[in-house]
Amino acid sequence: MHPLITKLFIKNQKHFNYPYRKRNGYETISKFFNFPTYSIRKDLGISVINCQGKLPSISKKDGFLVWFPKKFDPVSQVIGACRDYIATVDQSIFTKKGDGKEEYLRGLHPDKSKLTESLVKLACDRTLVSIVTKYLGILPIINGVKLLYSPNKKLYEGGAQFFHLDPEGVRQIKLYIYVEDVTEESGPLTLIPAQESEKIYRSYQGGRLTDEWVSRFIDPQHFYSITGASGTMIFADTSRCFHFGSRPGKNPRFVIILQYISPFAINFPWFGWVRKPLHAHLVNDNTLMIDQYLLGAQ
Ligand SMILES: [Fe+2]
Repeated sequence: MHPLITKLFIKNQKHFNYPYRKRNGYETISKFFNFPTYSIRKDLGISVINCQGKLPSISKKDGFLVWFPKKFDPVSQVIGACRDYIATVDQSIFTKKGDGKEEYLRGLHPDKSKLTESLVKLACDRTLVSIVTKYLGILPIINGVKLLYSPNKKLYEGGAQFFHLDPEGVRQIKLYIYVEDVTEESGPLTLIPAQESEKIYRSYQGGRLTDEWVSRFIDPQHFYSITGASGTMIFADTSRCFHFGSRPGKNPRFVIILQYISPFAINFPWFGWVRKPLHAHLVNDNTLMIDQYLLGAQ
């Protein structure tokens, strides 16, 4: 695709993306034109699900799942690695004044760091992939893995501290893993279940919404603020559930986010434009085929 067309598309992406039903149209066409890839991913997804025992599932109605298993070593190990990283990283990252989004949410590690590799390994864990695939209906692409720090000091207009839908796809799963305990005073993830969120899809054109505006259509008793101990996992469809986080409180928040999206989402059009998956460079000759697909190298 010519770079100018790509640039124009990115600039005008919201016209293909809102109101919400346009995403459906876009992904349906994308699947149709890429049916062979679609069917391979579907089969791989089924094989991952069939290899796992009974697992909790993400409700289609609610679009989210909170899971706190008694023992889940892959998460415990990664939380340990995150704590080591936080203790040894240049501490000025926690005190410096950030720019734009960094004011309330900042990434702590570069994309090619060792910690990123550990997070990618966790994102490829078959238990997690199975839960996500069952909900999305297709083997997804891991679009990004992050350890994020929220200072929770101030409220900034127009950011992710206000209700919004994430723009990538009809469905996606962001898996939030709390590194330390999160209380009401640590800017918890707050979301509205998908079934309630649907009430405002028709009038949503992207951007951020105030609580007051949302409350005119959705009873605030459906605003779920999700607190939890270290190790709590929240599988949230942030493309279907309005959500916010990192609001001011007494404590900062450290959270891991693993993002899974459909290969046919507007971010990865198989028509040859826009972005390459972020972690495709980690694939080598020894990488298992399913991991190659998860990392978007296939
Ligand atoms: Fe978001």
